[in-house]
Amino acid sequence: MSAKILDGKQLAETIRTEIGNEVAEFVAKTGIKPALAVILVGENPASQVYVRNKEAACCKAGMESLMFRLPSETSTNDLLALIDKLNADSSVHGILVQLPLPKGIDEKQILDSIDPSKDVDAFHPENVGLISQGRPRFLPCTPYGIQQLLVRYQIETAGKHIVILGRSDIVGKPMALLLVQKGKDANATVTICHSRTADLPSITRLADILIVAIGQAEFVTADMVKEGAVVIDVGMNRIEKESLDEHNQPCLVKKLVGDVDFNSVKEVASAITPVPGGVGPLTVTMLLLNTLRSAKQHSGKVNYSVF
Ligand code: GUN
Repeated sequence: MSAKILDGKQLAETIRTEIGNEVAEFVAKTGIKPALAVILVGENPASQVYVRNKEAACCKAGMESLMFRLPSETSTNDLLALIDKLNADSSVHGILVQLPLPKGIDEKQILDSIDPSKDVDAFHPENVGLISQGRPRFLPCTPYGIQQLLVRYQIETAGKHIVILGRSDIVGKPMALLLVQKGKDANATVTICHSRTADLPSITRLADILIVAIGQAEFVTADMVKEGAVVIDVGMNRIEKESLDEHNQPCLVKKLVGDVDFNSVKEVASAITPVPGGVGPLTVTMLLLNTLRSAKQHSGKVNYSVF
């Protein structure tokens, strides 16, 4: 059996078209253009790509993108001053500080300083608390994207055992919070595994849906997956792989791979996300949606219930 491919790129296109239409309608009604401020500190190559994608996606959806590229020597105080300014600017609806921040900047202090009503990443403790209580203001972008992928591919979560590999604040923990909630598109039994989990394969093999976000290239192999499971790969690892050049000589090629060994796992799974083209494009899409929601919430002109 070869798994069905869950095409995140195509789904992201569909949802971005829906968002673009909603943005146009909102702008026509209110004269307000949703605006996202993105702050990148330093020269992390992967972050530069992610930030460029966010900027392009914003513009394409008819939103304003404000980019702040700061040198790696930027101090915590300088960054706090910029965030204060953006917090006070009523034309800015979303503020995102790209992570990771360079060493020397206090990440927690920075994330805590963002106005929770503009925290489109949903990283602020107030927003995490609201999510935990099942009354979110914003949903965190990657977990939200994964939930939408499951919903739109009609993959049932209620009563299913979902195993999450990875306990990060960005993916693992909020993903568990979303899926364990009582309510629509959730109601799952959730297990979180991590680096100290004993006999990991015996737990991952119990998963009806396995979500992997550990940042280790091709870590999950076919023997760790139950026949017919749905596998969601959040990993983005740039590695060098052996290949053959045009003269059939061995060479090394740079490749982007996930945390799942796609070729072996697709033979046991019933559905699987590819890397690239799986979860990644959905993360940016949900950021657009959160920014639009924030603009609506701030406008006070649109009668709008959040979820
Ligand atoms: N770095 C990796 N993923 C994310 C994300 O979702 N938001 C931010 N701000 N930084 C990231």
